[in-house]
Amino acid sequence: MLRTKSIEQSIQDTEEPEHTLRKSLSALDLTVFGVGVVIGTGIFVLTGKIAKETAGPAVALAFVLAGLVCALAALCYAEFASTVPVAGSAYTFSYASLGELPAWIIGWDLVLELALGCAVVAVGWSGYVRSLLETAGWRMPDALSGPKSGHFGFDLFACLLVLVLTAILIVGMKLSSRVTSVVVGVKVAVVLVVVIAGSFFITGANYRPFVPPSEPSSGAGGLAAPLAQIMFGFTPSNFGVMGVFSAAAVVFFAFIGFDIVATAAEETRSPQRDVPRGILGSLAICTVLYVAVSVVVTGMQKYSSLTVDAPLADAFKAVGHPFWAGLISFGAVVGLTSVCMILLLGQSRVFFAMSRDGLLPTVFSRVHPRFGTPYRSTIALGLVVAVVAGFTSIDVLAELVNIGTLFAFVVVALGVIILRRTRPDVPRAFRTPLVPLVPVLSVLASLWLMVNLPAETWLRFGVWMALGFVVYFAYGRRHSRVGAAEGER
Ligand code: ALA
Repeated sequence: MLRTKSIEQSIQDTEEPEHTLRKSLSALDLTVFGVGVVIGTGIFVLTGKIAKETAGPAVALAFVLAGLVCALAALCYAEFASTVPVAGSAYTFSYASLGELPAWIIGWDLVLELALGCAVVAVGWSGYVRSLLETAGWRMPDALSGPKSGHFGFDLFACLLVLVLTAILIVGMKLSSRVTSVVVGVKVAVVLVVVIAGSFFITGANYRPFVPPSEPSSGAGGLAAPLAQIMFGFTPSNFGVMGVFSAAAVVFFAFIGFDIVATAAEETRSPQRDVPRGILGSLAICTVLYVAVSVVVTGMQKYSSLTVDAPLADAFKAVGHPFWAGLISFGAVVGLTSVCMILLLGQSRVFFAMSRDGLLPTVFSRVHPRFGTPYRSTIALGLVVAVVAGFTSIDVLAELVNIGTLFAFVVVALGVIILRRTRPDVPRAFRTPLVPLVPVLSVLASLWLMVNLPAETWLRFGVWMALGFVVYFAYGRRHSRVGAAEGER
């Protein structure tokens, strides 16, 4: 179970035919890429929901806490990614360094981050498309606007977006770097519009109280409370200081994606200097923008009157400026499309790699004769993600994405410590500072956010991981190509 795939073998198997990637990226490129992947549904949608239901105006503090946790994880991720000289995800790195079972666990867990993350972004996208249509005077029927507080509903637009993106990925269309820069520009411009235009409509009274007093969570069964509150014997509550922690565990979603930047370490001109600059730079920019947006939006409208589907645009409608609202919705729709596409692409490649390694059935790694893309894994995933995005509510999804991603951060930080001991010889393009202090802090910080997620999220996560073990022991372990080569079957 701890068999590893040799580094040479990993290189041979990668999609890149050359063994050495061109080292062309600068810290600035990484920062732009980072901001492009990271800014999405988290800030455009979850801010409103979390301010309204969990933290009030203190949602801004929650963004700072989540940003700090990510900064620690980022330092570990960058070393992990630059230790194993192959392009790929945490799955590939773990296979070459920690062993097959940890790699499987990470790969299986990454489904939560990438596939479900894509579903969350699609749901956020749909909220802004509806807001845009409403500005134009056309209202989508409730039954087709997604499930709302326990009521059945189908999110038509979210489902359609995933299906269209799946088709685009199958024919192998990629966003050129110019299109990516334009999309990043539009997204950042819209966020700045919210901050600058919105600041003229702030009413001081909306900030009082900044941290609303804690109130018992109404009617929610015990499992809906954060695990930490149950563990430490608190009465399950919203708002208050505990509310800020649970809010941080959810708005963490807004930072997801910087780990994808870490995987570009190998292609960076001088990784030891530029990778931390790029990753920490994009994290810092996003944290500042997120804090600014949440301060402005909770100042424009009382937190309790924020909407949950398209809160940034709706705040402008509430102060009588439908034009700005329309502009923001348009920018959100453009920006969220690219985030959704990047997550779906990432997932189909991880799935493909796992299937190529024999841990998942090999039908999924067959490449399309004309398009040269892993079409079967893309179709299978696209259909599942489309259904999930259509029928599941955004908070349930986002919490599951977060627990999965935080768990991967824990494994990666431990991986950094383990690899320093087991493979001190491997050259590392980037070295995490202050090992083992930083990785240990990263593990603790990630675990802290995890226990602030609802107990039912832990339950869902447990079921998913248990399923992963069943699949591995029933299939992957016996079909693994590395295993076969070792003659272990
Ligand atoms: N961080 C990305 C978002 O907020 C995934 O949409």
